[in-house]
Amino acid sequence: MRLRDIHKYLSWLMIFVAIFGCATGINSYNTGRMQHYYLWIASPVAFLVPLIIMEAHHQVYLRKHVQFVAPLTTITEEEFYAITRKGRRHLVLIDDLVLDATDYAPYHPGGKFIIERTRGTDVSKFFYGGYNLEPLTNGVNYTHTNYARVACNSLIIGKLIRTTNICKVKIDATSDASEDQLIKTFKFVAAPGTVLSD
Ligand code: HEM
Repeated sequence: MRLRDIHKYLSWLMIFVAIFGCATGINSYNTGRMQHYYLWIASPVAFLVPLIIMEAHHQVYLRKHVQFVAPLTTITEEEFYAITRKGRRHLVLIDDLVLDATDYAPYHPGGKFIIERTRGTDVSKFFYGGYNLEPLTNGVNYTHTNYARVACNSLIIGKLIRTTNICKVKIDATSDASEDQLIKTFKFVAAPGTVLSD
């Protein structure tokens, strides 16, 4: 069990002990006065009703699709690399969008280090959970939620104009590159209707 799970379960335990304490306190107070026996229920209800409403709202929100904003500014690959090579701004790419994550890095829930280390690269594979930077997670990748997509929307500074040729490909063959089957190699061929250039 990870430290954060222990933290979570201990917090739940403290909340339930507090509710139990309030409910039994109210109950013994009212029983002593021979009145309002049912009032103890107010304590769990006052906790559970907002909790259920907020959880339902959270679950619905997670299942929605938050669109990335479409920026009007365009940035060429040369401009992108010219900025990131200087090392002052942490620009990253998600799809064809350029994000400036410099000021966001210290607040990133996955760690500042991750944003700093991926400066000047396309982080889509990490963002969408196709890949991870931490081998100790045993191949369990992290897929970002809508909350992260909203955070991205405030970081997008432009749309990348690619000057290099990109072709659509499909996987022709897959083979395991490690015994634990966590690493694979792929052979690609051009997708129907496109041609692979050198
Ligand atoms: C600028 C782009 C990024 C933004 C705006 C962003 C935002 C977020 C947000 C808001 C969360 C909290 C959970 C969620 O809402 O999904 C999160 C968690 C996380 N992010 Fe990112 N992220 C970005 C890039 C990355 C990259 C490139 C990686 C990996 C290389 C990464 C790895 C993680 C991990 C591992 C967590 C889980 C932390 C935990 O709960 O233990 N993120 N990120």
